[in-house]
This record gives sequence, C-alpha cells and structure tokens, in this order.
Amino acid sequence: MKERNKHLEGDDDHGRRVASMFNRIASWYDLLNRTLSLGLDRTWRNRLVDSVQLRTSGKILDLASGTMDVSGQLQSLEEGLKILALDFSLSMLKQGQEKIDPLRVLPVCADAHTIPLPDHSVDCVTIAFGIRNILPRDSAYAEILRVLVPGGRLCILEFGSARQKIWGGLYNLYLTRLLPRIGRLVSRDPAAYSYLARTITQFPSAEELRQELLASGFQQVRYESLTSGIVCLHIADL
Ligand SMILES: C[S@@+](CC[C@H](N)C(=O)[O-])C[C@H]1O[C@@H](n2cnc3c(N)ncnc32)[C@H](O)[C@@H]1O
Repeated sequence: MKERNKHLEGDDDHGRRVASMFNRIASWYDLLNRTLSLGLDRTWRNRLVDSVQLRTSGKILDLASGTMDVSGQLQSLEEGLKILALDFSLSMLKQGQEKIDPLRVLPVCADAHTIPLPDHSVDCVTIAFGIRNILPRDSAYAEILRVLVPGGRLCILEFGSARQKIWGGLYNLYLTRLLPRIGRLVSRDPAAYSYLARTITQFPSAEELRQELLASGFQQVRYESLTSGIVCLHIADL
C-alpha cells in the first residue's frame, strides 16, 4: 500500500483533523455504518455502483474510499477493470483489505486534492459519503476533472443536507441526538459522531451541489433522492 499523505494539501488543518478522526474510528467504522443506517448503506452503495459509466480507459477512481466497500463492489463490474481506491486515512484502507482483490484494486493513501494519476486517465470517479468531508471542494473538483477522460462521469453518494424535516422530524432527531450518543457508546469517540451529524446538517442541498458541480465544469448534472432524501445520488457528466 503506497503512502502519499506525508504532505496533506488543501485546507491542511481540516484535512489533518479529518484523517486523524477516521484513523481513530477505522476499526468501528463498518459495524457502526451497518448498524446506524439499519443496513440501508448497502442498498445506497448498490445504487452508486449501478450508476457507474465505463468508457475507454478501463479504470475507475474510488475517491475517499475508506474501508473500500464501493471498491470491493466495483471490482466485479467488468473483466479487466482496474480500480484505484484513494483515501488519506491509512487505517481505513487497512481495515478494508479483505474486501478487495489486489490484482484489481490498488489502495493508495493520498489526499483527494493531489490525486496521483495522469490527466484523462479514468472513466469514472465514485465518492461515497466522502465529499462532505473534503474541503475545499472546488480544488478537489478540479483534480477530478483533470483525471477524468473526455465524456467521463463523477458519481457522488452523500447524505442530504437534512435541513428539511424528514419523516416528520424523526430522522433529524435521530441524526442530531441519538446517533452521536450511540456512536459515543460504541466507539467511545463522541467527537467523531457529533462531527458526522454536524457535517450532514451543514452540507449544501442537492440543488446547491448541482449548481456547484456545473460551475466547476461538469456539463450535465442530475440527482436522485434515496430513502426520502436521507441520501442523494448525484451524477455529473463531462
Ligand atoms: C465517511 S467515510 C466514507 C468511506 C467510504 N467511501 C464508504 O462508503 O464507507 C469518508 C472517508 O473520506 C476520507 N477523506 C476525507 N477527506 C479526504 C481527502 N481530502 N482526501 C482523501 N480522503 C479523504 C476519510 O479518510 C474517510 O475514509
């Protein structure tokens, strides 16, 4: 596994804090994900994988890949397909090693702001539950645009901003009150799970994100709400 995060670029302080937080919770991440999403996270990631579009390069970049759930699913999409799983938390990548075939998936520890790939080298970039952690977003979009082939696609799976009430406010209550408590009990890291709730409530709405992606240079951007808008799938084409 290559380590490329000696120098965290972009918003350095934010990046260091986020990487260190994910390093701390890596061993709990998968279990908590499954439990706190009531198993729905698998269904959401399946939708992301279904939206992937392959063109000429035969390569996919799974950005902010974490414990590589998405990379593990992508590897069986097509014979000969190569996947780069990139994350700046080495512990998250290590945690997911069992899920991947090393002949198909190459895990790389690096920052999304400095992707170690040549220009126009991947057909598609996937980001599952990663974009809200990446700041600043505009320079990350510039890197994604640089590595995509002409006509390439970016598929983002992310929580909705949760500014509107979902299920009569029950979900909002779960997110801001219950989830940090459960996270605190299980992982003994209260900061991590209040951070999760905070980033979800502060994240732009689906329409704001669409405008942001269009402004960054994507030609066509659409989104689909999943599970009453708890999660959104954004598809941005060049
Ligand atoms: C919530 S996890 C999502 C992991 C995985 N994609 C999934 O579906 O479970 C967010 C991941 O984004 C990574 N991350 C956040 N900012 C990053 C950046 N600037 N560069 C690379 N990885 C980043 C974190 O280390 C973490 O593993």
